[in-house]
Amino acid sequence: MKKSVLKHAALMTAILVAGSSALAQGKKVEFFSWWSGDEGVAANALFKLFEQKYPGVKVVNSAVAGAAGTNAKAVLKTRMLGGDPPDAFQVHAGQELIGTWVVSNRMEDLTPLFKSEGWLTKFPKDLIPLLSSKGGIWSVPVNVHRSNVMWFVPANLKKYGVTAPKTWDEFLTTCQTLKGKGLQTPLSVAGGFAEQHLWESVALGTLGTQGWNDLFSGKLKFTDPRAVKVWDTYGKVLDCANKDMASLTWQQATDRVVKGQAAFNVMGDWAAGYMSSTLKLKPNVGFGWAPSPGTAGTFMFLSDSFGLPKGAKDRTEALNFLKVLGSKQGQDVFNPLKGSIAARLDSDLSKYNVYSQSAAKDWKSNKIVGSLTHGVVAPESFMNDFGTVIDTFVNGRNAQAAAAQTQALADQAGIGK
Ligand code: GAL
Repeated sequence: MKKSVLKHAALMTAILVAGSSALAQGKKVEFFSWWSGDEGVAANALFKLFEQKYPGVKVVNSAVAGAAGTNAKAVLKTRMLGGDPPDAFQVHAGQELIGTWVVSNRMEDLTPLFKSEGWLTKFPKDLIPLLSSKGGIWSVPVNVHRSNVMWFVPANLKKYGVTAPKTWDEFLTTCQTLKGKGLQTPLSVAGGFAEQHLWESVALGTLGTQGWNDLFSGKLKFTDPRAVKVWDTYGKVLDCANKDMASLTWQQATDRVVKGQAAFNVMGDWAAGYMSSTLKLKPNVGFGWAPSPGTAGTFMFLSDSFGLPKGAKDRTEALNFLKVLGSKQGQDVFNPLKGSIAARLDSDLSKYNVYSQSAAKDWKSNKIVGSLTHGVVAPESFMNDFGTVIDTFVNGRNAQAAAAQTQALADQAGIGK
């Protein structure tokens, strides 16, 4: 017994020495994201795969907690501007990537990597332009998430005798029915980004696909009566929600649905990852889903991608990490746990649960629009200030004022120019 303990200790020491010598030789790669805690499960699986493929190279996980990157983006800014970039960092495909670190010339062009890995034909042809500008490709997409999803527990809806509403008007009627049956907060909403996240589903469901696209191409003004109506509806939807939004994380808002304290929640499908990977619920049994009201046939997407900043300390290892992250194997290890689908076209859907399989089907057949909250359609400057507009609206409920403030932000950010 004693002997085996000693043997084990010797082995552990050997492993630690090997690990630290790898670190001492600089064989490490720093991975910077906001996937910590519950959100880290999928990333951990990716780290494990990388460390198997590159023995002796350690992944240093520098996740900064705070959903949707609230805190990570600020830390990243300090590090990038302070000359201390992480090796690979999370950034949403679309305007968030292009409007920040690409315009300021801080990223490496990954076109050679896309060519050497044969990726130019492996990702959807409409996704690559969202990673590209100024003749370069600036990040590697690891997934595709859906923003416009409404979550519920099928048995609870049955108990209340309601179904997932197909329009926001129907949602408001269902909300009254549920209140009449004693459920005071039919909808659970978390604070911060989740309030904007709900807004984008209300806007898409109210304006339709064309209307949503027109808002961000400048064809439809935020002050148009149709766009003002989005705020009116959003206010009524919020009347069906909990008043303690600000103090809830998105996971806690999901928990309320799971526990039957609310009937519905609108959140991206990382909620499916949380419910299946962390809470171990079965899709279609422990949780159900539907496109958020008024958005059937449209897939509002976002994509987490990773770029390589100029001056990365472990450049070779970072490139190797990106190779794993963009590979079929890497994506099929990460995404089934994350609730997202692979960004690649050739992923093996038998590795995914029925929720993700249905999302993959919709991704292929639906109309596709970009998320605002998660960086696709507008630059980060717009998003940050839009958060303030939402907060002001939540407290004051002035639709005309919110519409005018948003149009001013759009003008400033050059949306539609
Ligand atoms: C999004 C991100 C998702 C998930 C979510 C909640 O911005 O794209 O992968 O992390 O935030 O934190």
